[in-house]
Amino acid sequence: MSLNKSFLLVLLFALFQNINSESTISGKTVQASDSMVVTRHFLATEVGNTILQKGGNAIDASVAISFALSVVLPQAAPIGGGGFMVIHEANTNQNFTIDYRETAPARATRDMFITEGIVNRELALESYLSSGTPGTVYGLFIAHQKFGKLPWRQLIEPSITLAREGFVITETLGTTLIDYADKLAKTKDGKKIFFNDGQIKSTGDLLVQTDLANTLERIARFGAAGFYKGKTAMLIASDMRKNNGLISSSDLRNYKAKYRKPVSFNYKDLNIVTMGPPSSGGLLLALMFNMLEEEDLNKTNPHDPNNILITSEIMQKAYALRTAYMGDPDFYDIPYSLFLSKDNARLLSTQLNRDKSSQKADFDPYKYKFKENTTHYSVIDSEGNAVSTTTTLNTAFGSGVIIEGTGVLMNNEMDDFAAAPNQPNYFELLGSQANQIEPNKRPLSSMTPTIVFKGDKPLIITGAQGGSRIITAVLQVILNYYEYQLSAQESVYLPRYHHQWNPEYLMHEDFDENLIAELESLGFSLFLRTPTYDYSNGITSSIMIEEDVLIGVSDFRSDDFLAIGVTNE
Ligand code: GLY
Repeated sequence: MSLNKSFLLVLLFALFQNINSESTISGKTVQASDSMVVTRHFLATEVGNTILQKGGNAIDASVAISFALSVVLPQAAPIGGGGFMVIHEANTNQNFTIDYRETAPARATRDMFITEGIVNRELALESYLSSGTPGTVYGLFIAHQKFGKLPWRQLIEPSITLAREGFVITETLGTTLIDYADKLAKTKDGKKIFFNDGQIKSTGDLLVQTDLANTLERIARFGAAGFYKGKTAMLIASDMRKNNGLISSSDLRNYKAKYRKPVSFNYKDLNIVTMGPPSSGGLLLALMFNMLEEEDLNKTNPHDPNNILITSEIMQKAYALRTAYMGDPDFYDIPYSLFLSKDNARLLSTQLNRDKSSQKADFDPYKYKFKENTTHYSVIDSEGNAVSTTTTLNTAFGSGVIIEGTGVLMNNEMDDFAAAPNQPNYFELLGSQANQIEPNKRPLSSMTPTIVFKGDKPLIITGAQGGSRIITAVLQVILNYYEYQLSAQESVYLPRYHHQWNPEYLMHEDFDENLIAELESLGFSLFLRTPTYDYSNGITSSIMIEEDVLIGVSDFRSDDFLAIGVTNE
């Protein structure tokens, strides 16, 4: 090749590089123009971003992120759990939600957790009976079938590598492992995976999950059938049988994730698209925003005591009505209009206590008359497709049960049912017949993956982990950003509060002494949850979109978060 020719090639290459050059930025809060991924673990964020850069869309990235989280976030996101996904498809301007919540096994019974009239918490939370039939793999599979661009296998390969070769345990995971060592020592496989010579693994150790890599390999090869049929299903059913669990091969074979109609409502000039039942999140968010629309909040100070009083009164009403009227819509006729109608919100607003905090007995949700009724990630791609996903095992490491030979850590989602009236679950939530245990039913959830639109364009993609506190965390991120005009980062970082009617206290993060005194004088019983205590008042992964600038905000409330944004120049 002549010198001139090679010079020309070098020049063309340089030009091509320039035309296609992209800048990638990563950190806790980052800005970019074309794509953004925010997840609770930097390895999962990197997997998602790589899929986007290889030509995948936001849904491909989300599927890959979920599988990666199932490996690197064993405390929250294993494939033995379930979740909800909200999808915005940019070219059709349509929104979709997928429900891949766990279901009660066919042999589940209403009183299965009652011992001598009392809910047996250990049975509900830490036994083979604690698990519903997992939904995650099915949900991801149907998301990919409808929207995926890249091959299914390509989305799982990074997770197979992470599981087979291992990854270094971060301090966040290391301390959580120590806290939950007893739970993880309950099964032979728990001891094999999470312990070294009888010692729980800790920060800096390598976590290798060979059985999980093999399970993921079967899923990569056979799709959803790699989990719900064949070897994986056989191993789950047989381990359940051996240990008095209920999930059978027919439960697994019959499991179906579902596309559900999104909950969509207007708040002023916003359109909020979120998850409907069997999550309570979307409908509670709708009711709270509908009631807030009636209020004249002090916009200059989100923590004005009167703002907190009114917002917490609204929270109380919403959670009380959740107790009475919410469960799996396939089993219970939810009075949707109770939560969605503006007229109803206006009527309820007349019942708010405006001088001091209400007591639980002030409002009986059963007497209320109406006309008829735990990790989150956010992704947006360069086409404007957006995905908001919350997924969970319920509490940390779920039931602690690892199915022999699969590496699959099982959920303890059966505790999200109301095991008995007037006896609260782990999150101190009460429930009614609407959410009692029934075969094949989905337990009521609080997960609230949400996309907020202004006009046709996404403005906020957010969601949270944190059990019952998820819904109020999402409410506050949106309020802080839109109503109080805080910056994207401040909207996430501002100390949060939460009232769920029962128990009768306002949970709050760090508030100053004056505010605490004022709230006490308004009749509140206060309960401090420091931002890093037990998931605090929700941990969020958010993307705000300002004039085509994408701002990814990881929550400071946990350590391993990472946002990665890409700008194509
Ligand atoms: N497991 C917590 C929830 O779904 O609300």
